[in-house]
Order: sequence, then structure tokens, then C-alpha cells
Amino acid sequence: MAANKPVLWITRKLSDATEARAARDYDVRLNPEDRVFTSGEIVANSADVDAILPCHSEHFDADVTARMSDRVKIIANHSVGVDHCDLNALKAKGVVVTNTPDVLSDATAEIALLLMLAAARRAGEGDRLVRAGQWTSWSPSFMVGTQMTGKRLGIVGMGRVGRAFARLIQGFGMEIHYYNRSRLAPELENGAIYHATVEDLLPHSQFVSLHCPATPETTNLMNRQRLALLPDGAILVNTARGTLVDEAALIEALQSGKLAAAGLDVFQVEPGGNPELAKLDNVFMLPHIGSATRETRDAMGFRALDNLDAYFAGKEPRDRLV
Ligand code: DGY
Repeated sequence: MAANKPVLWITRKLSDATEARAARDYDVRLNPEDRVFTSGEIVANSADVDAILPCHSEHFDADVTARMSDRVKIIANHSVGVDHCDLNALKAKGVVVTNTPDVLSDATAEIALLLMLAAARRAGEGDRLVRAGQWTSWSPSFMVGTQMTGKRLGIVGMGRVGRAFARLIQGFGMEIHYYNRSRLAPELENGAIYHATVEDLLPHSQFVSLHCPATPETTNLMNRQRLALLPDGAILVNTARGTLVDEAALIEALQSGKLAAAGLDVFQVEPGGNPELAKLDNVFMLPHIGSATRETRDAMGFRALDNLDAYFAGKEPRDRLV
């Protein structure tokens, strides 16, 4: 690293190990109170920094990008998803953008499994019942859910997280179907059955799990028409991004019984979620914690710092997007 350390702004409170390494190698600006900055503050804070290490909570849209200081040379995201960044605008401004793939795939796959089991076996309902002291009887018809074992699972997006989830699910003896923009090589497919369109996949999916990025093309991917293609009593899981699901259509499908249940870690509005979804007993919800393990937070922080180190050493960052 050069004698004059580059100035790095880390927008949110990251793991202790990440912040210690960053402070060793950079002239670092931290956010110990973990405040969420407004667009105006992001622009103002960019004035005297060479690099920004943000999370998905900071939005670099075309307007922020245009107003951001020309001193900022790289945005090294602490996330795999980059839907909070206008990549075209950042590229046009000459700003390098990186993300943190791979390191959060297993943690996110674990949360997808948790959501799927919880939705199928009515874990939220059961937990609320016991906590409220309302567990007053038991019978064989009490809290009967859906079994995962032996069922057909549809995975939308067979990238790193989708494949990690497919590996994790092996023990359930599920028949795995998938949609991906392109078919995987047989060793990556690992027996999963390919469908060339989401429309072809959905009728086979007693369970469906979303693992594709949020792009203009995937906005409201699960809309009313596509939800109708699922078998009756299907279960939907989303650990990717809230924009993939038309929440009004999802609520209708959950109320009508078209869907038996849903497990959601992500929402159209974050933080906060959707109060109408929260009224439904057959939804199990978490507050966007797919990658929130100690191990993965360190790994994400280190991966972002690896990308910064490469950039400032004059090398190509491993996870450069633009
Ligand atoms: C990601 O990495 O995209 C996760 O959603 C956390 O930001």
C-alpha cells in the first residue's frame, strides 16, 4: 500500500475484524453509530474520499452518481446484490464497482432452507401459539403442514446461491427442477432438471425458491399470471430481493389458498416489510438476514477489502463488475 493511505469511507458498522483490517490499511472513516445516510449525505461524504465500501442500504442511483465527487474511484460493495447501484451511470463516470459473490452463498442457502421448512411446517404460527399461552390442546389434525421430502422443488436462478441451496436440499430427496438464463454444465446441474423458461418451470414446482438478481427484467417476476402456474398448495420462498415478487398478487394467492404458504427474507419495502403480509398466518418472515452470520460477515468484509487492495495496488479487482 502507498505511503499515503487511500481514504476509505465504510458507510455502515461492519464486523470488528473487517474494520480492524480496514483501519490498518486505509485512512478509514467509520460509522460506529451505524447511521443510515441520506442521498444528500452520501454525496456530501464523497467529497474527500478515494473509495467507498457501502452496503445495499446506500443507493448510488444516477442522481447520486452524478452529484458524487470525482475523487471517488471505486465502490467496493459489501453485498453480492448490486441493485442499489446504477452500474451504467457509475461506469460512465469511470467509477469501478465490485461486489462480494461466493462468500455468502452457504449462509443464504441456509436461510432459504429455514424459510422453506418454517413455511411448510407452520413454524411461525406454532411459535406464536406457544408463546401466547394458547397451546391448550393437541390432536392429530392440529397444525398439519406440508412435507418437503419427496416433493418437486423449482429453483429460479441457478447461480452460486441457487446451487448451494440445491446441494443443501439433497438430503430431502426432492426432485430438483431449475430455470436459469443458460443451462448449466452436467457437473453443476448435478441431476437437476432444466427448464428453458420460468413458465415451463413453475407447473413442476410444489416448492419454488427465488435466487436470481434484481434487474429491470426480473421486477415482479412472480406476478399474478406466474403464481397461477404453480400447483395448488405450492410454497414460495424468497431470499433474493423483494422486487422479484408482486406482493399484492402474493397476498391474493396466500388468501385464496392457491399458495399454502410463503417464506420471505426480503420485501419490496425495506426495512419494514409489508404490513398486509404480516396479517397472514401462512407467511413466515425474516428481516433480510440471509447473509447475517459472523463467519459470512467477516468473509464479505474481507472480500470487499481484497477488491480495494487489488484496485489500489494497480491490479484488476477479482469481483469487478464495471
Ligand atoms: C447481498 O449481499 O446482496 C445481501 O442481500 C446483503 O446485502
